[in-house]
Amino acid sequence: MVTPSFPSMRMRRGRSSPWIRDMLAEHRLHPSDLIWPLFICEGEGQEEPISTLPGVSRWSVDRLAEKAREARDLGIPCIALFPNTPPALRTDDAREALNPDNLICRAIKAIKDAVPEVGVLTDVALDPYTAHGHDGVVDDRGRVLNDETSAILVQQSLVQALAGADIVAPSDMMDGRVGAIRAGLEKAGLIDVAIMAYAAKYASAFYGPFRDAVGSRGLLKGDKRGYQMDPANGAEALREVALDLAEGADMVMVKPGLPYLDVLARVKDAFGVPTFAYQVSGEYAMIEAAAAAGAGEREALVLETLLAFKRAGATGVLTYHAPLAARLMAG
Ligand code: PBG
Repeated sequence: MVTPSFPSMRMRRGRSSPWIRDMLAEHRLHPSDLIWPLFICEGEGQEEPISTLPGVSRWSVDRLAEKAREARDLGIPCIALFPNTPPALRTDDAREALNPDNLICRAIKAIKDAVPEVGVLTDVALDPYTAHGHDGVVDDRGRVLNDETSAILVQQSLVQALAGADIVAPSDMMDGRVGAIRAGLEKAGLIDVAIMAYAAKYASAFYGPFRDAVGSRGLLKGDKRGYQMDPANGAEALREVALDLAEGADMVMVKPGLPYLDVLARVKDAFGVPTFAYQVSGEYAMIEAAAAAGAGEREALVLETLLAFKRAGATGVLTYHAPLAARLMAG
């Protein structure tokens, strides 16, 4: 690369007015970059605020059509759904995950009936359904069982896909589950259902508000370090992604977002496949806390973080700020 030096090169020429900054911008935000995660609860006409996620609520199924129309009108292509399962339905074997009439399946149908042109992504993992809050079934020492869990996840994916989910997104971090799910979908003839693998998902301290939102925080025994990745590891993420792609993932995800931009960039550079970032609940809460404390301006923080994901190579971003961000992008 030729590097001319001062004064033949003055970098500030490219920053001297809005039109030239626009013209030279390497990345641009668009509402189609966004996936909007929504929490669902039982009941009718319900909106339940989540105290650790100010501005985010759980919605009852009958309120989801309005949310889906909002997504469509804002140009947000896809909604991700997360259920808050009533405590009485949480069991050690997570059987409610396989109930074709469970909360998530009713939510998928409500959205697909109202606004079929909005994509629906569903989380595949057992934590909203287990009495112990883990993403899988456990043995008598509390260890999450890999292959037994994977077999249940296949059934869970099929239940969600048959209810109308467009993308199933395994977030459980069991080994081999993407291949098992892909085989299950093929066998059922569900050849157009995509898999977005939570491929590089870290055992993170940034998931706290999410666990409040789905009601698993108080339940979780121990931690998830036996299956989610160690935040110390970057190269390992490339092996995770390679495996999930080989097993049939259409798209991969890196999660959390901002603290793992290095991982996102490495994954995108190495594989060049659709790569999504999840700006998780704790990141949302951090931005909201900063804004509430007067330490930063919410809108500017939101847009700058989203742009950072794109610069690092993200195809799109799952973010609780999606509707606000889409409004800001529309100007
Ligand atoms: C569950 C799941 C989690 C998130 C998405 N799917 C939590 C966890 O692994 O404990 C976190 C999302 C967020 O914090 O916003 N498997």
